Amino acid sequence: MTTPAAKPRVLMVGLGMIGASFAKALCLSQAATVIGLDAQPGVADKARAMGIVDEAVSFPDLNTTFDAVILAVPVLAMGPVLTQLKPWLSADTVISDVGSVKGAVVDAARDALGQLPAGFVPGHPIAGAERSGLAAAKSDLFDHHLLILTPLPTSSAEAVQLLTRLWQSVGADVVTMSVSRHDEVLAATSHLPHLLAFSLVDTLARESENREIFRYAAGGFRDFTRIAASDPTMWHDVFLANREATLNILRRFQSDLTVLADAIEHREGATLKSVFGRAKSARDYFTEILSSRQRHTDDIRKNLIAAPVRAGLAGAVAVPGDRSISHRAVILAALAEGQSELRGFGNGHDNRTTLEALRKLGVGIEADDTGCVQLTGVGRQGLKAADSPLYMGNSATSMRLMAGVLSAQSFSSELIGDASLSHRPMDRIQQPLQSMGARIDLSPRKTAPIVIHPAEALKPLDYQLPMASAQVKTALLFAGLCSGVSMRLQEAGPSRNHTEVLLARLGCPIHAEAGVIELAPARQWAGFQSDIPGDFSLAAVHLAAASLVPGSEVTMSGVGVNPSRVGLLDVMGRMGARIELTNYRDLGGEPVADLQVNYAPLVATEGAADVAGLLIDEYPLLFVLATQAEGISRFSGVRELRYKETDRLKTMVEGLTTLGADIELKGDAVIIRGRSDRPLDGGIVDCGGDHRVALAYVVAAQTALRPIIIRNSGRVLGAYPDFAEHALALGYSVTVED
Ligand code: S3P
Repeated sequence: MTTPAAKPRVLMVGLGMIGASFAKALCLSQAATVIGLDAQPGVADKARAMGIVDEAVSFPDLNTTFDAVILAVPVLAMGPVLTQLKPWLSADTVISDVGSVKGAVVDAARDALGQLPAGFVPGHPIAGAERSGLAAAKSDLFDHHLLILTPLPTSSAEAVQLLTRLWQSVGADVVTMSVSRHDEVLAATSHLPHLLAFSLVDTLARESENREIFRYAAGGFRDFTRIAASDPTMWHDVFLANREATLNILRRFQSDLTVLADAIEHREGATLKSVFGRAKSARDYFTEILSSRQRHTDDIRKNLIAAPVRAGLAGAVAVPGDRSISHRAVILAALAEGQSELRGFGNGHDNRTTLEALRKLGVGIEADDTGCVQLTGVGRQGLKAADSPLYMGNSATSMRLMAGVLSAQSFSSELIGDASLSHRPMDRIQQPLQSMGARIDLSPRKTAPIVIHPAEALKPLDYQLPMASAQVKTALLFAGLCSGVSMRLQEAGPSRNHTEVLLARLGCPIHAEAGVIELAPARQWAGFQSDIPGDFSLAAVHLAAASLVPGSEVTMSGVGVNPSRVGLLDVMGRMGARIELTNYRDLGGEPVADLQVNYAPLVATEGAADVAGLLIDEYPLLFVLATQAEGISRFSGVRELRYKETDRLKTMVEGLTTLGADIELKGDAVIIRGRSDRPLDGGIVDCGGDHRVALAYVVAAQTALRPIIIRNSGRVLGAYPDFAEHALALGYSVTVED
């Protein structure tokens, strides 16, 4: 088989809507060389002429070699096609399909091939459209859609990896589940609805002469029956192939329908109301998931185009309120007793996510556009169960901090997130919270959804954190605080201490020294007033850009300079950056200063592992700076970057390499050979929806040779809503592509 680095040859069998779309997307992404094969004469050649596949072949003599074959043919045709293909399959050919039933495909493969080869991993993209044919092929059909792989006990890890890579390269979110679970889930969510739509349209058409009744049908009928226009042959295949699972759910549905029919017959309004009420709440939940997913994909897909500037950056801006402090302050205010007022609350999506979650948990909150938030605290045991899962969007801080709070409540909660957040590790909070007695379920991959069950009173905790993480530390402190138990946490390395600062200010019995944090059983705290400093991590963008662009001078007032946040200042100082801090003051226990940054030539530096937590979010910017600093820079202990909104080691190393940087990953260290006389090149990079990575590329572009197109960077505007305005004021060259 091909080594993972080489470009695999993929045989796409069946160039209908799904097969042609996958082929087209693979060709465009350059992830594979695609060979097209279709039972209908001429179709593969036409696909090659249209650029949908790279090569075209036909039976009986394929006359080609391939590493993987994807069967994009109707489910009942899988067996015969595999029998035909058998002479060309080797022991390690990867074999997969796109069928909407998996059990039947496995049986067909076993019959056709005699046994299940290690390369066989069934698959199913949850995407489609009513149109068919080559012309309907859409290269973005799978973008941000689920792709379910159902690996078998016989499947090799290499085959799963190759298929995951191929599907991810066309934008799909790959998940795995068992064959039987897949067939049950699809029977309920797709096959049964299709059966009902076909059946209802058929009943009505036969009831009414000349189909005259359809003239009076409106939106409800149209929405309910849209899928009855699907291909009858394909659906006939699906039901025959997935008999057992569809029959199970159909029988259950029949008996539920009988309950409704009886209720109507006997005028049992209460039964009708309770069924409809339950259904409405479930559907509202579904609507919420759909619309948040939609919002998320709309946002993220936008591209930024950043270009080299001709003159230095100059001017003054006030960056928005600190994101980390805003999360903590609003949660502690919600759990306080009485009124609180926060000023300078962060205006990004993540902070609003925490605010919305607290509202759903029964906290009265008023927030205006100026960053003023007024809350009526409900007390640390006063939250109410939310009536649907709490959607945490892209925000791991919201999810982990709220999980700490909710673990100590007497009701159940479910926390869900977008695709990126649903990939991030949650066992890092589950394990210690469970040892306090909390009851928390995660997905088999130890990720969200997080389901929290009501627990008995939580127990004290003495815990050594395995990684430097302020989110984990804070989640545990919040659980301890809400349940009034003592806690001793030993940090693996320094991390931001905003929670400790705020708790001390609220009079909670907390003591932090030399990496050990002790919390004694706390009493309820009262509402408070707080001004939130400017976000250093956003200011860091301008510190980096102004340091790079000759002739720059930028000032920012009121920026938080808590020593546990500003590790970047030390590192940039050693690189020769000219950054001055003036007008030091205290804002609610947090140190604040005005920053002035001027261009200065930079030299390489070492970034030590033991302080990595002090500049964790600033590494993408630092990597960019290091490419332009003379000499070899080495940043150690940066493994945690793998677990952020994207795997930031991967996204940054790949992107900067595309731009011509000499950057290398060695174990847990990043090594960059910088040249002050060699600007980065332009090109297309993908930040995978990670706003910090996108902002680092915006900075890189200001002194690059050509423009940089930053794909999937729309979240920059969600994370830093004033960015476009600030960038314009300071003279950046950056635009949002429509
Ligand atoms: C944060 C902590 C850090 C940081 C994140 C915000 C916080 O995450 O990367 O942007 O507010 O506690 P980890 O705790 O995972 O290091």
